[in-house]
Amino acid sequence: MLHRPRRLRQSAALRDMVAETRLHPSDFIAPLFAMEGENLKEEIASMPGYYRFSLDLLVKEVKELWEMGCRSVLLFVKVDDSFKDNEGTEALNPDGLMQQAIRRIKETVPEICLMTDVALDPYSEYGHDGIVEDGIILNDETIGVLADMAISHAQAGADFVAPSDMMDGRIGALRIALDTAGFTHVGIMAYSAKYASCFYGPFRDALDSAPVDMADIPKDKKTYQMDPANVVEGLKEAKMDIDEGADMVMVKPALAYLDVIHHIRKESPVPVAAYHVSGEYAMIKAAAAKGWLDEKQAVREVLTSIKRAGADLIATYFVKDIIQLLNSKS
Ligand code: PBG
Repeated sequence: MLHRPRRLRQSAALRDMVAETRLHPSDFIAPLFAMEGENLKEEIASMPGYYRFSLDLLVKEVKELWEMGCRSVLLFVKVDDSFKDNEGTEALNPDGLMQQAIRRIKETVPEICLMTDVALDPYSEYGHDGIVEDGIILNDETIGVLADMAISHAQAGADFVAPSDMMDGRIGALRIALDTAGFTHVGIMAYSAKYASCFYGPFRDALDSAPVDMADIPKDKKTYQMDPANVVEGLKEAKMDIDEGADMVMVKPALAYLDVIHHIRKESPVPVAAYHVSGEYAMIKAAAAKGWLDEKQAVREVLTSIKRAGADLIATYFVKDIIQLLNSKS
């Protein structure tokens, strides 16, 4: 035989040398959940080993992530029901939980790239990403509050805003709003191809942000998030966001959408992020708890596959685990 591909697989040294995909701590973005209170750390029932933190413990977590080599965190807040309304009024409170969290993180770890979620759902009494009227999730009427939210996060010190709602035209509106307010240096990571996925379930538990079960309120997000059947549409969304000024685009979820990551990577002149979402975390945790999968191997394999598909950056709840794995010899 002239060709024996197995020759390149015969030792760990050779396999390392010819590996086409390598993970690095700076590939990862750590999503974090902030909550009110002092010295509180609550495990999320459907995300074993993952927590919501009060701000004092949140800043410790960010410091630890930074010291391990993680370069970026993506911040979400759990908002008390009493602060929720249809318009997301609390999202603009300069002393709201998000704004306080941003300030505390930037005071403690100023070098980290702090990204913040810009969407109404944690603040919405209906659990939707936009203002709801007569059973419709309003597009243009929601963009104003999103732009004000982005400015409010920038004023508190956010480095990047990450609009996650799939409204039309919001990237351009946010870019103009940020620039007009003097925040030309604040970046936008666009959730460009975000699918109406069942894999967000545990996240909605974490933030208590699921669409409510009420008459005239849509039970799902299918009129704004994308249909899992579509990939050409994802390319169009990414292209539009890039044209409107997105600094990075994102595909979400990751594992069931590797082809979407691949196609967008081929076309995109900006970095492509993939969000390995809460349900993808939960699946590995649940199977590992049953003894059906080796958790460490599953984490390494899945994250490698997301990068191999073309993701430049990966948001995942396994950031600490994967950095530890990369630092260990096995
Ligand atoms: C909502 C938002 C969601 C996630 C991030 N931002 C859930 C949703 O669209 O309902 C999900 C993240 C995850 O599941 O890990 N703006």
